[in-house]
Amino acid sequence: MINVLDEVKKIESDIIKWRRDLHQIPELNLELPKTVKYISERLDEMGIEYHTLVEGNAIVALIKGGQEGKTIAIRADMDALPIREETGLVFASTNGNMHACGHDGHAAMLLGAAKVLNDNRESLKGNVKLLFQPGEEYPGGALPMIEEGCLENPKVDAIIGLHEGKISKDVEKGKIGVSYGPMMASMDRIFIKIKGKGSHGAYPEESVDPISTAAEVISALQRVVSREIKAVDPAVLSVTRIQGGFNQNIIPDDVELEGTVRTFNNETRQFIARRIEKITKGITGAMRADCEVQYDFKYPPLINSEEFTRFFVESAKKIVPDEDIYEMKDPVMGGEDMAYFLEKVPGTFFFLSNPGEIDGVSYPHHNSKFDIDENYLYVGSTLFVQLVMDFLNK
Ligand code: NI
Repeated sequence: MINVLDEVKKIESDIIKWRRDLHQIPELNLELPKTVKYISERLDEMGIEYHTLVEGNAIVALIKGGQEGKTIAIRADMDALPIREETGLVFASTNGNMHACGHDGHAAMLLGAAKVLNDNRESLKGNVKLLFQPGEEYPGGALPMIEEGCLENPKVDAIIGLHEGKISKDVEKGKIGVSYGPMMASMDRIFIKIKGKGSHGAYPEESVDPISTAAEVISALQRVVSREIKAVDPAVLSVTRIQGGFNQNIIPDDVELEGTVRTFNNETRQFIARRIEKITKGITGAMRADCEVQYDFKYPPLINSEEFTRFFVESAKKIVPDEDIYEMKDPVMGGEDMAYFLEKVPGTFFFLSNPGEIDGVSYPHHNSKFDIDENYLYVGSTLFVQLVMDFLNK
């Protein structure tokens, strides 16, 4: 058996270089031509086979072990955000986009794991699939990859992935955060259009007022979570945009509302979707208005396999001290499309807490001064390699 930590440490400077190179070419959504080209070149250098999906914007690579066995996948997202970078780093992006969520590091850590696993493939009993996905931020790249068969041929038996930075305030720097069940929320969008009838503001009797109707709808929606869902079942329903009207003496024809719904299980999610529609239709109907209600089911809740997470934690203890593995008390309300993979395959997603600092300040994810501490990138790669070896050779 190789010493995984030593092997990864040998290529730590490569991992950091890959991250910096990717950091300079941030791309958005499902259009990542430069990023895919860069990662493909590294895989070519390592001699790892791969093919692309999602019209050339996702990479599925395969490392075959010396013996037949199970298949484990490691997933990294590689998309960025439409933010103008203000970190002042020497390798800062200048193309108007920014790796402000750390996905550059995810891709680099996966490349690092790929290198060590491929160099030691003869000792593996089974296969490792490397999933480089686009569009995590928007509009979702995991689902199209699954639909195009990334979890088949060979069929994936387990999956692992991580997020770096400081996603959860509870996980101190240098620690990894794990969760044995629901870890991140579902993330759905609601859109409501309340259609009334406009008139002069002085003669409301001639209108069907969509503004006062919208106010009733918003108040009633607040009662779904507070009055209809168990207090121990966390959920959020936020109306985040309200738009309508022109000035002080016109009652407009309609008002638009938009918002987000977060839950940790699909029953609650379905329930909230049904209640939003029923409440909105009921209130607008009672107020003589019409409505259009859209509920867009986006990312499902991210739920880790309890059994696999235990296996991962045992494996991780070979790499980091026990006290650096933190079991999260609370899930986070943010969403992640890794959730789609975890709906199909048992696995785990964990947080690697490595916030960086710009001028002594640590900025949050999606901020123009977000940064990570590169000194922890090797930890992510090492945890991947150790887990793969333990899982395939157990
Ligand atoms: Ni992210």
